[in-house]
Amino acid sequence: MGRLTGKVAIITGAANGMGASEAKLFAKEGAKVVATDINDNVLHEVINEIKADGGDAIGLKHNVTSEEEWKQIIQETVNHYGKVDVLVNNAGVSSPKTMAQMEMDEWNKIMDIDLNGCVIGMKYVIPEMQKAGGGSLINISSIGGLVGMAGSSPYTAAKGALRSLSKSAAVEYGKDKIRVNSVHPGIIETPMTADTFKDAEVYYKTFTQLPYFGNPEDVAYGVLFLASDESRFMTGAELVIDGGWTAL
Ligand SMILES: NC(=O)c1ccc[n+]([C@@H]2O[C@H](COP(=O)([O-])OP(=O)(O)OC[C@H]3O[C@@H](n4cnc5c(N)ncnc54)[C@H](O)[C@@H]3O)[C@@H](O)[C@H]2O)c1
Repeated sequence: MGRLTGKVAIITGAANGMGASEAKLFAKEGAKVVATDINDNVLHEVINEIKADGGDAIGLKHNVTSEEEWKQIIQETVNHYGKVDVLVNNAGVSSPKTMAQMEMDEWNKIMDIDLNGCVIGMKYVIPEMQKAGGGSLINISSIGGLVGMAGSSPYTAAKGALRSLSKSAAVEYGKDKIRVNSVHPGIIETPMTADTFKDAEVYYKTFTQLPYFGNPEDVAYGVLFLASDESRFMTGAELVIDGGWTAL
């Protein structure tokens, strides 16, 4: 029996990086996975890999900024698998801009994807979790949601808001056995951060206390724990997976 046997999980931004890793790990641990992404070509490769490995998953094209699409994704999940137990709000984009450089259009775009997209997902999935008798909401924030980061102000603002929003939702819905936690990765090797990993020396000096890179599986195992009943007494918490970057 897998650690997620019997659970139905929606994972956004699942075509690449950590979302793809989480979708594969969840399926391996017995979950029925609804993997969504705006980029459905690459997403289908993830679904094919899961199926070839004996897992149960569907892939759906989804822009997390669209309220209409969120309603459809949740309805399709319920039609296909009968319920929703877990939502991983993982889709996100970064922005390498300082406050004074940033255009307001860019601010709004980052807020729409990194914050509002998660809010809409939570709004529409919570009633389904209430019907199912509980659930686990996992919001992928960042170290940038805990400490300042130069040149990323809209990103850190969105990720910080996601952290506090997770705590408020945990307080609001604990009575319904809905747990809400945020995850705070450090710099992890994915398409989003590919440039950072070109210079290993800088990575080791700046972003970790450990003598190796952080990879998507390192985060996926933390997310798996939060999705499973192993974390049944954990809500409103922050899971930091950063190789000790913020320990200094
Ligand atoms: N990589 C890191 O170092 C790092 C660190 C901290 C937090 N994070 C966060 O982790 C999450 C995953 O990051 P990653 O590094 O795996 O990124 P990634 O770029 O590898 O993957 C992100 C996925 O989100 C999808 N996406 C983008 N906009 C979307 C939209 N509007 N609707 C639906 N899907 C959309 C992309 O197509 C992509 O597949 C993000 O929320 C990111 O902010 C990443």
